[in-house]
Amino acid sequence: MPASSSFQTQRFPVKLYDFHPPIDDFRSAVVEGLSLPQKTISPKFLYDKRGSELFDAICGLPEYYLTRSEMAILQTHAAAIAASLGNRTLVELGSGSSQKVRILLQAAPQITTYVGVDISRQHLQEACQALTQDFAGLGAIAICADYTQPLPIDSVPELRDQATVGFFPGSSIGNLEPAEAVAFLKTISVLGDLVIGVDLKKSAQVLEPAYDDAQGVSAAFALNLLERINRELDADFDLDQFTYRAHYNPDAGRIEMAIVSLRDQTVQLGDIPIPFQTGETLRTEHSYKYTIDEFQLLAMEAGFKPVQVWTDPDQLFSLHHLQQL
Ligand code: AVI
Repeated sequence: MPASSSFQTQRFPVKLYDFHPPIDDFRSAVVEGLSLPQKTISPKFLYDKRGSELFDAICGLPEYYLTRSEMAILQTHAAAIAASLGNRTLVELGSGSSQKVRILLQAAPQITTYVGVDISRQHLQEACQALTQDFAGLGAIAICADYTQPLPIDSVPELRDQATVGFFPGSSIGNLEPAEAVAFLKTISVLGDLVIGVDLKKSAQVLEPAYDDAQGVSAAFALNLLERINRELDADFDLDQFTYRAHYNPDAGRIEMAIVSLRDQTVQLGDIPIPFQTGETLRTEHSYKYTIDEFQLLAMEAGFKPVQVWTDPDQLFSLHHLQQL
């Protein structure tokens, strides 16, 4: 049975290849993750439709400097970055609402095909469609997939034997453990060169509010995972009995995000009881921060050669152009 389907609808004229993992994957990941001594659920499950909307809201928060800083880098160095893309098919991983790639596409009219890869199907389709409306002559293909898994390039005829270049903005690489990040970079080296955004190390005073903002959007983003589990997996998390915490661990160089139980309680996941103690955490995300040197070493370990790095004037964020060795 083919693992993919492709279709075009009236509402979404962009071609969609749908490799969305089945619901059973979510169920088994949650059951397994909640049975660990340190309860953990992969951050990729944060991005249902509501989660993707909340993440977009995070990107606009005053405390969340990452998006602003990366956009500033893209705007300031658009011509140089566009030149590094050549006229290859541009494949954006974790494309979300595809705002950043617009800056590149404006500076790179030579690019005629854009491929967005994201787990959130509707969000992805809407974003690809908006791009084709706003960039005359641009063809877009939507691949709904978990981009942390090997890319199903062979199942996408438009990508076979095409010269491609990868674009992976937003410092999503930071949500992988360093060893996973190396393995992931090796996997996506099938795309050829890579332009990748990486958040830089800085003080906890700047980092912690970026991940626990005054308006509570970051908290809502994390807690939405419990709502998703309730809705999709027949669970009964009481959201008033949990809170959210983000802490910078300077030794590990990462923000540690978790949902914290406010009391001893047992949650039902279908017919499986999940006990929580007061103060017990459910880890939702790590967000690693790298110096430029640290990231370049990691990229070299994955078989890439760093050719160029751009930063913003405040040195908050970095954008790397990596070439395959
Ligand atoms: C997607 N990723 C890069 C975000 C980050 O900064 O680690 C996810 C995030 N979680 C809470 N705020 C932002």
